[in-house]
Amino acid sequence: MTQPFKCRPARSSDAGVIAAIYNEGIDDRIATFETRPRTAADIRKWLDTPFPIVVVAAGRRVVGFASTSSYRDRECYRGIAEFSVYVARAVRGRGAGRVALAGLITAAERAGFWKLVSRIFVENEQSRRLMSRLGFREVGIYRRHGQLDGQWRDVVIVERLLGDHHPAHAEPPSVDGFSNQVASLARFFQLRDRERVCRYGLTVSECYALEAIAERPAGIGINELAAALSLNKSSASRVADRLVTAGLARHGAAPDRRSRRIVVTRRGDARHSKIKNDILTEHRTTLSSFDAQSLQHGTRALEALARARVTKR
Ligand SMILES: CC(C)(COP(=O)(O)OP(=O)(O)OC[C@H]1O[C@@H](n2cnc3c(N)ncnc32)[C@H](O)[C@@H]1OP(=O)(O)O)[C@@H](O)C(=O)NCCC(=O)NCCS
Repeated sequence: MTQPFKCRPARSSDAGVIAAIYNEGIDDRIATFETRPRTAADIRKWLDTPFPIVVVAAGRRVVGFASTSSYRDRECYRGIAEFSVYVARAVRGRGAGRVALAGLITAAERAGFWKLVSRIFVENEQSRRLMSRLGFREVGIYRRHGQLDGQWRDVVIVERLLGDHHPAHAEPPSVDGFSNQVASLARFFQLRDRERVCRYGLTVSECYALEAIAERPAGIGINELAAALSLNKSSASRVADRLVTAGLARHGAAPDRRSRRIVVTRRGDARHSKIKNDILTEHRTTLSSFDAQSLQHGTRALEALARARVTKR
């Protein structure tokens, strides 16, 4: 069985493997302007600073790291750190980068930083997607920022506010009364990419369907499910059928087809417990890119749409 990824602070004994992973990133020419391979001794110097560095391990095997370093010497910038994240080539795309970066965010918050910043090559899709998933904002693009192997490269500047400074944590009071609607807003944005598959193999639609089913002990009717997924009845039925086929839901007993409800199975319940936190994180991430006023406008628009739909029925 594959071991789950766990994040922990980096130790001096990790220096060799961190260097090896970083050097793969250097060789790939997708992540950094650096071209000089690093040694364990170079990495020990990083570890000898107050800037948090974490590793992600599967069992005892370190497969990735995320590190912070100095942004600027000026006192006014003391709460800002540069960061980077690297995963061993053989393990990329399996969730280690996310675990490493999420761990680094927590470590940097604990260390009192208020912001993480970095610059990413515009072509580095994996990295841009990872950053966006974890609430980083793309500030803009530096054109011809530097040369790598004689070629000019453009970079995207990314930033993420931390702790109380982060919009998702510091939701202003005007938004408090709308928490359900705010979640609907996040759902609305997630559902625009409804066939995206999560790390548990479910599409966005299936995740939200499972959530809707699992949260109703007596099950859910197809109309209600369709409304939760912003789908028509037959599309919602198809999503429900896929959950039934996967053993995550079942059709409850009912006198006729129309009054039939879809009920969560024990396996579905277990899967829901796993995806719940990811859904919350995705919501925070989605919402963090909006300011409070836009959130209010968006939630009001959604409420108005929901009212219009009820009236039309
Ligand atoms: C960028 C990097 C750290 C991401 O780590 P990872 O373990 O591969 O990524 P994860 O599996 O945790 O995936 C995190 C997100 O990135 C996206 N991602 C991962 N691999 C991807 C790929 N090949 N194409 C597009 N997106 C990808 C995933 O879609 C995921 O988002 P999702 O949850 O919506 O699916 C890793 O690919 C890497 O080390 N690359 C080389 C070094 C680098 O570019 N570092 C960043 C610059 S500092």
